[in-house]
Amino acid sequence: MLVLGIESSCDETAAAVVGPQGVLSDVVHTQGIHAAYGGVVPELAARAHLDKLGVTIRAALDGAGIDRPDAVAATAGPGLIGSVLVGLCWAKALALGWGVPFVAVHHLEGHLLSPMLEERRPEWPFLALVVSGGHTAIYRCESLGQYTLLGETLDDAAGEAYDKIARLLGLGWPGGPMVDRLAETGDPKRISFPRPAPAGLYFSFSGLKTAVRNHVNGPDRASDADICASFQAAVVDCLLDRLGRAIAETGIRRVAIAGGVAANRELRERASNLTTADVFLPPKSRCTDNGAMIAFTGRLHLETGHRDSLATGARPGWILGSR
Ligand code: KG4
Ligand code: ZN
Repeated sequence: MLVLGIESSCDETAAAVVGPQGVLSDVVHTQGIHAAYGGVVPELAARAHLDKLGVTIRAALDGAGIDRPDAVAATAGPGLIGSVLVGLCWAKALALGWGVPFVAVHHLEGHLLSPMLEERRPEWPFLALVVSGGHTAIYRCESLGQYTLLGETLDDAAGEAYDKIARLLGLGWPGGPMVDRLAETGDPKRISFPRPAPAGLYFSFSGLKTAVRNHVNGPDRASDADICASFQAAVVDCLLDRLGRAIAETGIRRVAIAGGVAANRELRERASNLTTADVFLPPKSRCTDNGAMIAFTGRLHLETGHRDSLATGARPGWILGSR
């Protein structure tokens, strides 16, 4: 079964075709218009999806060498409602026109299953650390559709913290890749930023962000590279600390790390060197939003016989695990 996957929940307009042999095409257009505003402007994002989705879908079909797929999958949430609606309406209209099944995909399920697109894939059950611009959470993944939330952020998501620090330092947007690059040349021990540790497996990054702001506005300001390196060391310490606890509490060693922040150099390096875990990471290009993870996840659900009605609406606040 060849599945067209459409992703438009935030600022990536993406489409891909996935079949039994894996990814046949994967086209991602990252919207540049938001850079001027230092963050995603929802209305502009929706309009840009409207502008680009047609050619993106065409390119994905051409890349796979097909005129039409056997089914269409699309992100139905969570995300910016206007943006989600654009992809969802395209997907449902195409499914109706082609007379093929449609399936609605949860964006985070797409992320947490994305390591399964690789040759070396995690077996069930596994833990998933999803770290993106909108979410930071650890799930226990039992089987397809069976996910238990073990802990999540109480305030900012890790990617959001990166973006805010980049903005504070005037590095541009999106901030994650810029902070990551600068951190490479800095001293991670130059400033000792806090490692907030709320109870259980929860995360908190807003205190860390405030500590960075106080440092930047203080009398003994370090270089941007040292600030980035010290901030990044704190973020990765927090993520790996919670992950280590989750492994100890559940006894599950297999760990998938996914979402935009999983593209981070230090997180990838340190997670891969963990002796307590068997870590599965998608390639960097599949950490950030893409259509392949949506097509793949939709395909897994379609294989179980699942279909969604064309009356399915956008679900901006969709909770993972609910239908
Ligand atoms: O998964 P994603 O593409 O979109 C959401 O679902 O949110 O994640 C985007 C987030 C942004 O906050 C971006 O700054 C962050 O991922 N990011 C990174 C890196 N690359 C992207 N954060 C840290 N290091 C990176 N290399
Ligand atoms: Zn995402």
